[in-house]
Amino acid sequence: MSNDTHKLMLDHSQAKVKLYGSYLAKYLPIISQDRHTTNIHLYDLFSGEGIYENGDKGSPLIAIDKISSCYASNNNMPKINITFNDINSEVIAKLKTTIDNTQLPTNCTVRIFNKNYLDLVSEISSEITAFKNEKAIVFLDPKGYKEISIADIKAFLAVGKSEVLVFLPIRDMYRFANMESENISAGHEPLYKFMDEIFPTGIPKFESQPDYIHKIKEGLKNILPEYFVDTFMLEREPGQFFALFFFTGHIYGFEKMLETKWDIDKEQGRAFRYEQSGTMFSGTEVLDFPKKLEDYICSGRKYNGDVYYFSLHEGFLPRHANEVLRNWQEQDILNVLNADGSAGRKKAFYITYQEYKSEPRKIYFNYNPTLF
Ligand SMILES: C[S@@+](CC[C@H](N)C(=O)[O-])C[C@H]1O[C@@H](n2cnc3c(N)ncnc32)[C@H](O)[C@@H]1O
Repeated sequence: MSNDTHKLMLDHSQAKVKLYGSYLAKYLPIISQDRHTTNIHLYDLFSGEGIYENGDKGSPLIAIDKISSCYASNNNMPKINITFNDINSEVIAKLKTTIDNTQLPTNCTVRIFNKNYLDLVSEISSEITAFKNEKAIVFLDPKGYKEISIADIKAFLAVGKSEVLVFLPIRDMYRFANMESENISAGHEPLYKFMDEIFPTGIPKFESQPDYIHKIKEGLKNILPEYFVDTFMLEREPGQFFALFFFTGHIYGFEKMLETKWDIDKEQGRAFRYEQSGTMFSGTEVLDFPKKLEDYICSGRKYNGDVYYFSLHEGFLPRHANEVLRNWQEQDILNVLNADGSAGRKKAFYITYQEYKSEPRKIYFNYNPTLF
């Protein structure tokens, strides 16, 4: 079994909706507190029928449940407009019956489409572009990957008012990801079109499914530098992965998504631990955060706001950065200085969204292993 840290051993579908639901439960109240969003639009564009034959809830019902709980515990929740779409008319007929039999919160509307996702992309990205004080969450849970393109994800993100969550069947993609160009046939075109978008200077070789996910994530970070991208792996059977890719232009939304991911990891017994002697994790993608932070801090004067941004961009939370910095401070290899050069307060690093907005240059860091 793989040792990677971001995976769940739950049943795959359950794991997917659990992650999606946890994200909504965390993010919706945050939007409601920003005092300026009037409407939230949730787009589930490969929705399925809402409930599985065994009674398990699919993404439509999970979303409605989370929205209902948010309304119950929060008087300031903005209006929520949900769009469900599925290409299959039987699926849509079942979804409509399910929704008709479900109590919706009073401030929530639902519209249901029976269209090909590809025919909806431009309509929905235009809708998002026209938003004023509104926010969108776009959830894409296709059966395969053929419909998914980075250009379309970018179109949803273009105005910076949205977050996009995409599930990809890594297992099925990886199977054909290392092909020599002469063996690539018409059937593989969608996969290679997708990979060409992510690796414009050439598709690398992949050693395993986690390595594939990791390289796709790094590729996405390179081609979408203005956005935050992260992944969450779900292991369906040993060595067989699906992954959620998460995109946003909003740093605080990204922090909340990362919190959701790390919370689920913790539930699975994979809490973050910084071990002085070596690496923190046994996973492939997260081994070197302290080293990356060290290189970053040594690359020029870095302030608290810079470290907040950098840590999140690398997929780590402020508390992870704090733990590493505290550890260096205890070893006397880190100096923390106020903006005027005087010594900063011990164990105070100001790595929060609030400080990032209000005082991003409150303190800076001097890392020097030979300091004392
Ligand atoms: C993995 S399922 C979605 C499961 C759902 N999110 C859940 O949690 O229950 C994918 C759905 O996408 C639909 N679908 C496949 N191709 C599509 C397309 N081109 N446009 C829209 N829906 C599509 C399928 O009919 C199927 O119901």
